[in-house]
Amino acid sequence: MENRIPLIAGNWKMNKTVPESIETVKTLVKLTADVQGVDMLIAPPFTSLWAVGDVLKHTKIALGAQDMFWESHGAFTGQVSADMLRSCGCSHVIIGHSERRQFFGETNQTVNKKLKAALAAGLIPIFCIGETEIERETQKTFSVLDKQLIQGVEGLILDDHHPLVIAYEPVWAIGTGKTALPEQAQEVHAYVRSLFAKVFGNSLAKKIRILYGGSVKPDNISELMGLPDVDGALVGGASLEPESFNKIIHF
Ligand code: PGA
Repeated sequence: MENRIPLIAGNWKMNKTVPESIETVKTLVKLTADVQGVDMLIAPPFTSLWAVGDVLKHTKIALGAQDMFWESHGAFTGQVSADMLRSCGCSHVIIGHSERRQFFGETNQTVNKKLKAALAAGLIPIFCIGETEIERETQKTFSVLDKQLIQGVEGLILDDHHPLVIAYEPVWAIGTGKTALPEQAQEVHAYVRSLFAKVFGNSLAKKIRILYGGSVKPDNISELMGLPDVDGALVGGASLEPESFNKIIHF
């Protein structure tokens, strides 16, 4: 098996004020001081990025944002650019999360523009894909993932200096307490890797990290991490408490 370092990423979504964010991340830094061989990342809301980034300086935990806009600057009220995220200390940015797709009109085309802009600015995108419950029930899982992945990465230039992380998050498993069965997760992860290999070649496909997301908890993480094509997790609810997130990191 390829030597892929696991990545455990926490997505706080729209939770925590600045003081709450600082307190949480300070506790997390202490709890994870012994961690070796696992990459860690926190994605707080925009308002907490700078403050959390300040606490995370010189620690092993990386900083990520939850979204960005593809333009670099200008009259785009409410938007945040890749350079602004970099200036807060971000190394990563989540792009195409299903909640952005569901509530904020994100499409495969806007995802594609954001992925290009993130890579051009030197951010590592965590590119989210996943099918809804109805799509799974009607046997559309693989065609939906195909479209999300192929349209999302169109025209992207990836290499060792421009890496990408993929997160497979079945929409029916997000925040619902339902997790994909290990065989369902492995099946999709292996499929996504093979699809990625068709576009970018085998050697990059072997290196790329594919995270699983959707109701990841301390009690299901080790089974998921035991799957050959699962290289980490994107954790929502269970990343809000430093104790539970720490347990996941220590899978
Ligand atoms: P959840 O969220 O862990 O709360 O299901 C995961 C995600 O949306 O990234």
